[in-house]
Amino acid sequence: MNRRQFLATAALSGLASACGSSASGAASDPAAFRTELRVPPLLQPKVDKDGTRRFALTMQRGRTELLPGKPVETWGFNGPHLGPTIRAARGDRIRMTVTNRLDEASTVHWHGMRLPAKMDGGPHQTIEPGATWSPHWTIDQPATTSWYHPHPHGETAEHVYRGLAGMFIVGDRTEAELPGTYGIDDVPLILQDKRFAENGSPTGDPLKGTFGILGDHILVNGTHAPFLNVRTERVRFRILNGSNARMYHLSFADRRAFHIVGNDAGLLPAPIQVDQVSLTPGERVEVLVTFTAGEQVLLRTLSGADDIDEGDFDIMKIVAARRLTASPRPPARLAGPAPIVAPPNAKVRRFRLNGHDAINGKEMDMSRIDEVVPAGAIEIWEIENTVYAHNFHIHEVAFQVLAVNGEKPPAYASGHKDTVYVPPKSTVRLAVQFGRFTDPATPYMYHCHILRHEDSGMMGQFVIVEPGTENEVPRTINAHHM
Ligand code: C2O
Ligand code: CU
Ligand code: CU
Repeated sequence: MNRRQFLATAALSGLASACGSSASGAASDPAAFRTELRVPPLLQPKVDKDGTRRFALTMQRGRTELLPGKPVETWGFNGPHLGPTIRAARGDRIRMTVTNRLDEASTVHWHGMRLPAKMDGGPHQTIEPGATWSPHWTIDQPATTSWYHPHPHGETAEHVYRGLAGMFIVGDRTEAELPGTYGIDDVPLILQDKRFAENGSPTGDPLKGTFGILGDHILVNGTHAPFLNVRTERVRFRILNGSNARMYHLSFADRRAFHIVGNDAGLLPAPIQVDQVSLTPGERVEVLVTFTAGEQVLLRTLSGADDIDEGDFDIMKIVAARRLTASPRPPARLAGPAPIVAPPNAKVRRFRLNGHDAINGKEMDMSRIDEVVPAGAIEIWEIENTVYAHNFHIHEVAFQVLAVNGEKPPAYASGHKDTVYVPPKSTVRLAVQFGRFTDPATPYMYHCHILRHEDSGMMGQFVIVEPGTENEVPRTINAHHM
């Protein structure tokens, strides 16, 4: 066994060592949280004469101290690690120019965006080294916390693990009562676990073992053992699980109550009070947390029972200033999107997650169209999981979880989503609202967002077509393979 394999094995058998964390559940020393949380900068667009907002992203290599004092090679957008936050508003016309300065091909997918398939950045929209890809669309969806990351088939796990990921915030007028000053009372938290070699380099094989990487260090926005100073009474955190495989069960060390205000694809109808929230890879949640002047509190994740959530870790320390600026109370109602109601005769499609590399017994094939969906449809999708922990993400859509094994999901997860946990030996039933951009020749993806599974074939392709033309659509496309 070489070192790489050994580390991958150690990750699976749970031989995790602790650092800024405690596998036993005992509280870590708050003094261990020494590095101020990095907050990704907002990406400033150039505004064209016709009003189009042009955002420029460059995928590049660089060096970062993921562990303090140990600079190592990492990948990022417009910098050495992770990427800037893109912020746009409903109605904006936007154009991205994405330049690939890596030595290998990649793609950039806008996870959570409702847009034409050609602009989606899935495995078919390859950006060769040195090339620039310029998708454009009009933002037309409710306020969300979305994100962007590479999606080259078979390489997504590696590219994300090296550091390619960023936030994509969509605003609209409905969220005016929520805190919205970026970096002050509206703070993104990108959670990613890593396993480090002696020299501070991220290690482990993201395609080995049942789940690939399960790290024993949790970084927030690429910051190891971070602290965050807050200056307002309430802070809205936009939390993204940007990990390859790890699932988080987040709570505060004092088990304080906080409010969930939004799921992956939009705000909830009203804030829901909780003291814990679970997130699988790709999922996002928006929360409102209240602080008392002068206090400190740790954000932590507690282990669960499903292999991808082993270990208790303290993640970040939040330090409230001696004097806090007053914030408005959490609003009683939120202007989240209307419920997704499937008609009584809605089409039902069933998906079986097999092992860790297939759906309905088939491995991903870039030239095969698995499903053809009429534009604007609302359908019932049923996802059945036989063995390992999985989740399920559908591009372009918003869905609501109707049931997990016949039971309603918790209220805090009842809003619009695009990614959902599918626990082992269970069935999840979704009401899925599809978009209106038709293109019979360019597919969108659905897949497990545990990147090791996605890369090894637990993914399928669907096209959205003009209603009534479903049977005329070719089921084989010309996929220029990467
Ligand atoms: Cu976040 Cu198909 O991906
Ligand atoms: Cu996606
Ligand atoms: Cu999976």
